[in-house]
Amino acid sequence: MNTFGQLFRVTTFGESHGPAIGCVIDGCPPGIAIAAEDFAHDLARRATGKTRHTSARREADEVEILSGVYEGKTTGTPIALLIRNTDARSKDYDKIVEQFRPGHADYTYWQKYGIRDPRGGGRSSARETTMRVAAAVIAKKWLVEKYGVSVRGHLAQIGGIIPKSFDWNAVEANPFFWPDAAQIDELESYMDALRKSGDSVGALVTVVADGVPPGWGEPIYGKLDGEIAAAMMSINAVKGVEIGDGFASVAQKGSEHRDEAARDGFLSNHAGGILGGISSGQPVVVSVAFKPTSSLRLPARSLDVHGNEVEVVTTGRHDPCVGIRATPICEAMLALVLMDQALRHRAQCGDVGDVSPRIPG
Ligand SMILES: Cc1cc2nc3c(=O)[nH]c(=O)nc-3n(C[C@H](O)[C@H](O)[C@H](O)COP(=O)(O)O)c2cc1C
Repeated sequence: MNTFGQLFRVTTFGESHGPAIGCVIDGCPPGIAIAAEDFAHDLARRATGKTRHTSARREADEVEILSGVYEGKTTGTPIALLIRNTDARSKDYDKIVEQFRPGHADYTYWQKYGIRDPRGGGRSSARETTMRVAAAVIAKKWLVEKYGVSVRGHLAQIGGIIPKSFDWNAVEANPFFWPDAAQIDELESYMDALRKSGDSVGALVTVVADGVPPGWGEPIYGKLDGEIAAAMMSINAVKGVEIGDGFASVAQKGSEHRDEAARDGFLSNHAGGILGGISSGQPVVVSVAFKPTSSLRLPARSLDVHGNEVEVVTTGRHDPCVGIRATPICEAMLALVLMDQALRHRAQCGDVGDVSPRIPG
């Protein structure tokens, strides 16, 4: 499955070290103003090579719009976006062509297909997520313009470090998407030591959608939380997804967890803005756990494709903490789910209109 969404359908294609990656977006409403420059901001936020704390690969990530846009506006026909790969160093992967990196997708791709493109991880590389971020630029724009819905994210944990204070303004002002400006020096030293040691670390990303009206999502099989969880789990290296209080709910009492309401609005948001698979009008809050990068220069035991026991050492340009660059990817997946669900809600329930009483979010 390389296609995501029901009405706003995104199909991605391409490998890490192939000539290009791309996507086709089908079902996009007509009339959305979009230009190649609109993609630059979010693609730069996801890109490698900007700081010493992410991979040193330097991809230009310039989007070519091949179809579906006329005189700067979407036409309702399939939108094809293409990004040429410009910094592929396939030689870095020569040593592991026949080896299975522990913790990576090498062994499972080999078992499933009997063949794999080892250059840069091929299709299993997070290079593919570039196209999700590109497609979501359109979704984010539509959500803001049409419904005033904004999607933003931040890093909520790296290894054992958690933010001590919270300020959205700090998030875009440092290379970690970190909400506490006072901790940046600590993070820099932590990441420098980690990189020197040759090891990697996991991270937690939190994404929030503000302004989502009540009613988006479908009960039972198309639940908003279910689709968000699947969307986040489809991102490379994701090992856990929480909605609202998530796993912390286990230790809570019902009297604490339930979100009481008054005329002025809800009194808390433990549910993360979703009840019964449908948005409540509160902010939709999603946290995503990323595992540590598996490609390490620290030797590890594994097998090669001939069944020999080997010592795997991965050199090349890898992220020491994949969660850092994952913030815009999680935002993208949330925006894609929300746009798809908004279109589905409009299709079935567009005539229902505003239902009272509406509890302020
Ligand atoms: C933004 C991002 C960057 C990544 N960069 C690397 C990397 O440099 N090296 C690596 O081994 N894995 C990297 N990964 C993780 C692998 O793509 C992923 O672990 C692998 O495909 C196996 O899939 P799984 O971890 O989801 O099971 C990255 C993931 C993300 C989200």
